[in-house]
Amino acid sequence: MDGKALAKLIQSEIKQRVADHVAAGNPQPKLAAVLVGDDPASKVYVRNKERACERVGIASELHRLSGDIDHDQLLALVNELNRDDDVNGILVQLPLPDQIDEQAILDTIDPLKDVDAFHPENVGLLSQGRPRFLPCTPHGIVQLLDRHDVDCSGKSAVVIGRSDIVGKPIASMLMQKSLPNIKAGNATVTVCHSRTQDLAGVCRQADILIAAIGRANFVTAEMVKPGAVVIDVGINRLDGKLVGDVDFDAVSQVAGMLTPVPGGVGPLTVTMLLENTLMGAKIQNRVAVS
Ligand code: GUN
Repeated sequence: MDGKALAKLIQSEIKQRVADHVAAGNPQPKLAAVLVGDDPASKVYVRNKERACERVGIASELHRLSGDIDHDQLLALVNELNRDDDVNGILVQLPLPDQIDEQAILDTIDPLKDVDAFHPENVGLLSQGRPRFLPCTPHGIVQLLDRHDVDCSGKSAVVIGRSDIVGKPIASMLMQKSLPNIKAGNATVTVCHSRTQDLAGVCRQADILIAAIGRANFVTAEMVKPGAVVIDVGINRLDGKLVGDVDFDAVSQVAGMLTPVPGGVGPLTVTMLLENTLMGAKIQNRVAVS
């Protein structure tokens, strides 16, 4: 599954919708990104997000803060961005330094500008099957499934990893009866984690296997049912090379479909951030969301 090509296609659609939104008399949508410290991976991610905004006609502003900033200073910036009518989406890049209470920062972001969908209000709305924003990486995964005509209904979906960013929300999305504009759903979902017994056996039952654990080449061919759809969310550095959570060469011999790393889920995560920023702009300009 070529995430790069699909991201390009979806970004061209978003570019047109942004142009239509502006042509209807609305201000250009704008994303505010906050980068604290100088973690090299975070810098790359934020730069990619800014470039993607530019490609589709979304304005972006980057707030770079020193790694020794204190909690209250960051909180003050988030509150300022909440009040700024020109800002439609706020993204605080994670992880944050230890002296900052990450959850308190995420809880402070205006839920109507929460383009990561990390605020408890947005997590709750998704859980109830009436999402405002869909979290970016899980949304990217369901776009991959939908646009490759993967039918999830009644199928066994196994998620490895229970993070708030990927594991929990993708499990929630795949089990939903229906979500607006999304086909994937109605799966029988199992979430595996570090305490799971016979993890390989559970994974082998999966028609759809989602690996989101952050361990290089963790998923081997023996863990995959022949013909299964395998989505690799991992981004790990191994001997200076980017690799996923799935042993790509071995698993590609068994899987029916498989996402590569890089060029799989990653480009779609960025793309869904653009979708959410446009959605934020529509919400704040009281334009009907379709
Ligand atoms: N760090 C790693 N992934 C993400 C993400 O999706 N959003 C934010 N804000 N930070 C991240």
